[in-house]
Amino acid sequence: MTASRYFKINDNRIELSMQPRERIILALDVAEYGEAVRIVNKFKKHIDVFKVGSELFTSVGPKLVEKIHSAGKKVFLDLKFHDIPNTVAKSAVAAARLGVFMFNVHTLGGLEMMKQAAQALRKVSLKENVERPRIIGVTILTSIDQAALRDELGVSLRMSAQVKHLAGLAHNAGLDGVVASPEDAERIRSHYGKDFLIVAPGIRPSWAAADDQKRTLTPKEALRRGADYLVIGRAVLSQPDPVKALKRIEEEIENFS
Ligand code: C5P
Repeated sequence: MTASRYFKINDNRIELSMQPRERIILALDVAEYGEAVRIVNKFKKHIDVFKVGSELFTSVGPKLVEKIHSAGKKVFLDLKFHDIPNTVAKSAVAAARLGVFMFNVHTLGGLEMMKQAAQALRKVSLKENVERPRIIGVTILTSIDQAALRDELGVSLRMSAQVKHLAGLAHNAGLDGVVASPEDAERIRSHYGKDFLIVAPGIRPSWAAADDQKRTLTPKEALRRGADYLVIGRAVLSQPDPVKALKRIEEEIENFS
């Protein structure tokens, strides 16, 4: 894997050489403002990007995003927008105005939805001089396995083909990348090139429990397959010594800096 990638900020290509700490996004999967702030304070020396998901955002709202920004850290707003194009485009503008570093939409919302969101972002960032957040498409959740894809969602394609198809839609719509299982990273990277970001949840070091995730890989293997960012929650926060667990993961991925 190459040591650096390019990606676009306000449509300029910028080279980014990523250290292990920059590759790990810590998932703040808690419901209370105070608890989230405690985690941010504990990890701000070690982590650059914190993920704010639907539980936390629904409970506490934008004030937590502002708090993370005031600590000099970045936010991945993981609200997985999935609605009609007009609504998602307006949500994208709201995310840009919040100043988040990254947010996501469901690729299953379709090409037009993703296109309009990406276009709205470009417009608002130019007009209001705000930094354009990376917009990332969720392919198939890492908690869904092949049987659920077929029997519950009624998709007859194999998982890998379905993920590749959805990643292609995101690419065509002008998104910056996708959220995908680390198992699919290699395939996505080989089809959509080095500028297309791959954000991988479902990360489990060999010493951590799988919990509800079905398609998991170790941090090192996920990076080896081409993931740019690793979203990690319980493998750090549920450990007896979370900071030690994070350091252990950082050591495991050191070679990829
Ligand atoms: O605790 P764990 O590391 O499994 O947490 C993974 C995080 O990544 C959770 O916050 C979950 O919502 C999020 N996520 C995911 N699968 C996706 C997209 C996001 O697990 N496809």
